[in-house]
Amino acid sequence: MQICRMLSQTTFHALSERACRRFVVTCLPSVRAGSSHHMPAKQERMFAVIRKSSDLHFRVLFLDPSSPPFVVVNHQMKIGIIGTGDIGATLARKFASRGHKIKVANSRGPQSISELAHEIGADAVTKEEAVQDVEVIIISIPFAKNPDLADLIRTVPSNVVVIDTSNYIPQRDGQIAEIDNGKAESVWLSEVLGHPIVKAWNALGAITLADYGRQAGAPGRIAIPVAGDDENAKSVAMELVEQTGFDAVDSGGLAESWRQQAGTPVFCTEAKAKDIKELLALADRERASLNLELILKELGERGGKRTHEESVRFTRSINIPSGQFEF
Ligand SMILES: NC(=O)c1ccc[n+]([C@@H]2O[C@H](COP(=O)([O-])OP(=O)(O)OC[C@H]3O[C@@H](n4cnc5c(N)ncnc54)[C@H](OP(=O)(O)O)[C@@H]3O)[C@@H](O)[C@H]2O)c1
Repeated sequence: MQICRMLSQTTFHALSERACRRFVVTCLPSVRAGSSHHMPAKQERMFAVIRKSSDLHFRVLFLDPSSPPFVVVNHQMKIGIIGTGDIGATLARKFASRGHKIKVANSRGPQSISELAHEIGADAVTKEEAVQDVEVIIISIPFAKNPDLADLIRTVPSNVVVIDTSNYIPQRDGQIAEIDNGKAESVWLSEVLGHPIVKAWNALGAITLADYGRQAGAPGRIAIPVAGDDENAKSVAMELVEQTGFDAVDSGGLAESWRQQAGTPVFCTEAKAKDIKELLALADRERASLNLELILKELGERGGKRTHEESVRFTRSINIPSGQFEF
């Protein structure tokens, strides 16, 4: 009875009560509801599928009035990663080790990354191959190079989730007037690529990504913001962020994603999930640009001479307005 009542409240197609009974699942430990609630590991829950947008993900309603809908992501996904630098290679390694099917591509061609791919357990492919027959594409290349991928990404089916890790660093990427005049960099990029994107993993440093991920629920687990306009795509990205060892916090739509850009309070400060929203709210565009200048200057002068902990302390001291937040 309760099942029918709950389903009839949705605008999605309803399943019969008998069909719902078949969906007794063992939830992934990292499956999340909304932005912060964790499912206890291996908890058996009955749920009804209320929207299946692809074989990759489907929205479900747990048969418990206190549970909001969850998006369940299949265990094994086909993921194409373009860019095999510090971030792309680390993501490829993490996802391959979790059993996902990974293709990697760079600008120089598959032969230049065949060894890396072999070591990681991925397939080295061309960029064209990296975006074919995949459910998720992760783009992890310097911001200014992203437009090179526009023709490719425009060929990708609309239900493929495209996640971007990049940060606009004018000192490296050159000035882009539209962004300088206030357009959020991810909105600009989404328009250039002609596909909705999700912004994830941009706000943590390469060392943090590689070495500081923790199991879900571990004390002190670092969190990162995930922004996007397509809720299903964002849910998939958040689940993948969790699988890399970080709490994923929904930071809203792309228009607000400037709050997690380089130089903002969440950027490379290794905040925890409970603090991310407060830090996002403290972001200030002008201050972020000035902060970025200071960080780059410091990197130029002292790059490599600080321990990781010292670097994070330094970044916090720059990116977070003094006196407004205490870690
Ligand atoms: N490093 C960090 O700490 C960090 C943290 C967060 C976010 N990010 C952002 O994530 C992105 C990647 O950073 P990264 O440090 O991993 O970069 P990286 O080490 O410089 O590696 C860049 C990768 O992009 C590939 N690439 C460049 N142009 C390309 C093109 N036109 N087509 C295909 N592949 C291309 C390069 O391939 P080739 O070597 O063959 O040219 C290389 O594999 C950047 O936007 C960066 O701002 C970086």
